[in-house]
Parts: sequence; structure tokens; C-alpha cells
Amino acid sequence: MCGIVAYIGDKEAYPIIIEGLRRLEYRGYDSSGVSILNGDIHTVKKKGKVQALVDAAEGVNLEGTIGIGHTRWATHGKPDDINAHPHNSGNKRLSLIHNGIIENYSTLKKALIELGHVFHSETDTEVLIHLIEEYQTRNNCDLEEAVRLALKKVVGAYAIVVIDSQDPNTIVGARKSSPLVLGIGENEYFLASDASPIIKYTNKVVYLNDEEIVKISRNGSFTIKTIGNELVKSPTIKELDLKLEELEKDGYDHFMLKEIFQQPTTIAESMRGRINADEGWIQLNGLERYMKRFMNAKRITLVACGTSWHSALIAEYLFEELARIPTDVEYASEFRYRKPIVYSDDIVIALSQSGETADTLAALELAKEKGALTYGIVNVVGSSIARITDSGSYIHAGPEIGVASTKAFTSQLVVLTLMALRLGQEKGNISEGEFRELLQAMEDLPRRVEKILELNDKIKFIASEIQESNHALYLGRGLNFPIALEGALKLKEISYVHAEGYPAAEMKHGPIALIDENMPVIVIATNLSAREKIVSNIQEVKARKGIVIAIVKEGDDIINEMADYTIEIPGTMETLTPLLSVIPLQLLSYHIAVMRECNVDQPRNLAKSVTVE
Ligand code: F6R
Repeated sequence: MCGIVAYIGDKEAYPIIIEGLRRLEYRGYDSSGVSILNGDIHTVKKKGKVQALVDAAEGVNLEGTIGIGHTRWATHGKPDDINAHPHNSGNKRLSLIHNGIIENYSTLKKALIELGHVFHSETDTEVLIHLIEEYQTRNNCDLEEAVRLALKKVVGAYAIVVIDSQDPNTIVGARKSSPLVLGIGENEYFLASDASPIIKYTNKVVYLNDEEIVKISRNGSFTIKTIGNELVKSPTIKELDLKLEELEKDGYDHFMLKEIFQQPTTIAESMRGRINADEGWIQLNGLERYMKRFMNAKRITLVACGTSWHSALIAEYLFEELARIPTDVEYASEFRYRKPIVYSDDIVIALSQSGETADTLAALELAKEKGALTYGIVNVVGSSIARITDSGSYIHAGPEIGVASTKAFTSQLVVLTLMALRLGQEKGNISEGEFRELLQAMEDLPRRVEKILELNDKIKFIASEIQESNHALYLGRGLNFPIALEGALKLKEISYVHAEGYPAAEMKHGPIALIDENMPVIVIATNLSAREKIVSNIQEVKARKGIVIAIVKEGDDIINEMADYTIEIPGTMETLTPLLSVIPLQLLSYHIAVMRECNVDQPRNLAKSVTVE
């Protein structure tokens, strides 16, 4: 949530910052702003998308080789020009951008007002810049020390960058529970919420750790200190393997469509080097390292939010069925606040595309405190969850920029299935024959996904038939129940259509009352074990004149006859069906959103990476 980017070097800062903000816009897009230092600090900020900022900055002198920029997802204070970042100090000397929440801002604000500080915005962030100003003035110290002293007083989460008009050769950044990456170029440095604004210029990065402050000097050096004033000796410089093309739309109308169509490749990528059907093995290094712990675990708890939580629900079926390990699934936000019982021989697995979700991070911290082994299944390399967990497996889906998660979901499912299979094998719960058959079916998945994507036009037609409905019900059983939840979430978040996912058998316990001739009911009926029951559920919907859209296995003539529309997808082994049945639902919601003229990649009120609680 919120994107921050800063530059110091020998190039013009403004175009680099604007380009960076456009790349970070997925993190928040209700307002944006820049401050460029050129003698004085010149700040322009504007409600709306980055383009609104560019329009507002037209004709303003923003020349300069040092600057900061921000794209906001509002927490404290409505989205408007005044609440937009950067925020400047009362003496106009300092300018700051912030991602996170200062929890004790009202106490700090009261004390600062008593000291004569005047506030203009409703944000928690403005308190921080006044606090830094207060320490700088009172102690007559440099910017880095003032930031350090101020942060010692702060409770909450932050990634910040600050500039000082009296010190045009320095940028100071710091983080706690919100991401901040330092990019090291030639005669230039970058600070950003993720590597996307940096990668065009350099692949050398340092991921700051919690409670670290970085001071960058134009003379080509940087130092990292802790808030406790200890120097971090030899920080790790990583070389990223990220290509600029991965951050472009590649000719697709939207990132979401590109990401849906990338799935044959991304599914293959998440298996690459980890599976060999011919030789009959699976290997996930992070898992092998802790195999003994997994074998002795009495319980696995999966924590996640949103779409990642839906993957966790599917993992519960897989871990219990294949590995026979009792498995619980928790919303990270609930887990952390309800005093859960966690034993030191538990394993807590966090699922997160971004690796930065605040609630998931907090749930992991709690699990660590209790001594559980923590395991991260994460997409973004170097992200906070990847770094705080004891072990883990990246899903290797590549950058996911559309706010609605698609390819990360299927890649999470691949990794979870590999884990469940490997654990089941080690436990001796799966026969060699079944194991090899499943591996073969997994290797076949990309081809099957390609076949589903060929149905795009048909799915678009079905979308056109139901695009005007303001409600939809998604039904599935067993492994396809979480897919019903996921289908409903995709429709809600990008089309603003009210949708609910239900286990099909639960329909008669309430939701059936909703069904009439205007209600589209999307039935996910690809799992054969539950097919007869699903057929009855479809009859129940039809008897009440509901519009049935059924996702079925190719050749299912019976459901084909009963449903108003059918989407026939290739068969696979039952365990793998969710990986295929979700894809038509992603396409359906995409087309409905486009037809309803919604902003598919940046739906209202949402942001890609939820770094606040
Ligand atoms: C939905 C969506 C969100 C995320 C959720 C968790 O399409 O993208 O529901 O799944 O915010 O995010 P991560 O996986 O980054 O922890």
C-alpha cells in the first residue's frame, strides 16, 4: 500500500520518479506527489492517478537531480491534494514520503502542537516530518540523526524517505514492517517500495531490514545503521534477475489479461527443477531442509489473506488427503488477534503473493514467538515474508501487477501440491504408481491450461449474457469450494458485482432463497467424485429458474444438457482440478469488468500490497 520512490544521482530526478510512480501505481492510486530539491524543495501533489500529477506539474520548474515521489492508498485522511504526500516540515526545509501507519500519531501530534507546530493535513505522516524537524532543530543535528531520534518515538509501520534542502547531497530512508529497497547504480542511487522502478537502471539492490536507516550520499557511498545507532557492517547486495519486459503489458489491454494468459508458462516455472515425472521425484529445497520437522509435526497451520487464503483452503484438502497431516487454515488477521494455541512443534505456513501483507507478517511473528517452524510460500523475491520465515519456496510466477491475483494463485497451488505430494511420499501414504501418475498430470498442466485459454471467446460471450446482473452465486464442492470463493472474489473486486461463493450442498440451507430468473449461478462441477451431488444441486437451481453456468469436464453431456451455458475444460486428476477450474472464472470476471467499464487493473478502493492492518 502506497508506493514510494526516490532518486539521487547525476540525472534529472523528476522523469525517473514519475516513471517509477507509474510502475508503483498498483500499490495505491488515490493521489500522488513529488518533491524535487533544487535550492529549495519544490513540491507538487494531486488527488487522482499519477497522470493527474503530471498534468498539475506542467510548467512547474522541477529540475534537479535529487527528489522523492509517492503514490497513495489513503488510510488517515481522505484522498485529496492536501493529504497527498510528500509532506513538508513547518520550516519548509524537509520533505518526506511514507508508506505505513504511525499508530501513536495523535499523542505525538498533541505534543508537537504544544511546541508550536502547525498541521495542515489529516494524515499520520505529517506528524512524522514535524517530529523530525523538531529533533533536527532542537539538537542541531544532521538529517540522519534527526530521523533516527524521531523514529525511536514512533509506534507503527513505516517505510520513509526524507530530503533536506540544507543538505542536497543526501537522502535518508528507513523501514519497519513496510518494504524499502535500495538500488545501487553508477553514480546514482534509488530507494523504492519494490524493485520495479529501479530495475531499468540497475539490478544491484539491498533490501533494508526492519528498524534500519540508510543514508545515501551523492559522492557514491551509503551507510546503514539501526535505530539503536549500530552500524550495519557489509550489507548484502543482491543481483536481481528481473527483466523490464516483465513489467510491461506486452500488447495486452490489461495486466490482468496478460497474467491470465501467462499461466501456461508461470505454472511450468513454478515446477521447474522441482519435479521429474520420468524419474519419479519431487524436490523442494526449503522443504527437504526441514523434512524431519515436517514428519514430526502434529499440525500444519496455513495463514493468509484474500486469494492466498483460498489457496490455503485447497492446501488443507491436499495436506490432509495426501500427507495425512492435520491442517488448519486461518485468516492471518484473525489468527494474530485471537490468542491462538501454537505449539513449538507446529509448522506455520504463510502464503502471500507480495510477501508484504501486514496481517500475514504479524501472524508469522506470533508463530515465531511461540517457537513454531515458519515457512513462506511467496512470489516477490526478497520480500519481508521471504526473509523472516525459517524456510520456504518461491512460487516464481514473475511480477503480478494487476491488482486481482490470478497467476500467483495457480502458482501457489502448484507449490502446495508439490509439497503435499512430497510429504505424502515421505510418509508412505501414496503408492509409487499414484505418485508417478500425479507427477505426469502436473507436467501436463501447462498444455491443459492452454486449451482452456482457447475458450476465451466463448467465455466472453457468456460474460456478455450476464454482464448486467448485479449479483452472482458461485457453487462448488470439495476442492472446488475454494474455487467458488475465488471466482466470487474475482468478480466482486474488479466488477463491483455482489457475488458469493458457497459449498454447493449448503445452498439449500439459505442461499437458495436468493435464486430466481435473474440470478446467475456459476457451478464448478469438474470434480468427478462429487458429480452426482452437483447434478442434483444444478437441478435445484434450475427448478427455481436460476441461470446456470457450469464449468465441467470435457464430454459431460448430462450437465451440458441441464445448464444454460457450459464451459468444458480438459480433465485432469481430481487432486489437480482446482488449478484448471479457476481459469474460466478469472476470464469470466475479467470480461464482465471490461464490459461494465471498470478499471480492471486498478479497481476502486484496492491496492495490490496490503501493508497496513
Ligand atoms: C485478490 C487479491 C487479494 C490478495 C490479498 C493477499 O485478487 O489479490 O485478496 O490475495 O490481499 O495478498 P498477498 O497474497 O500479497 O499476501
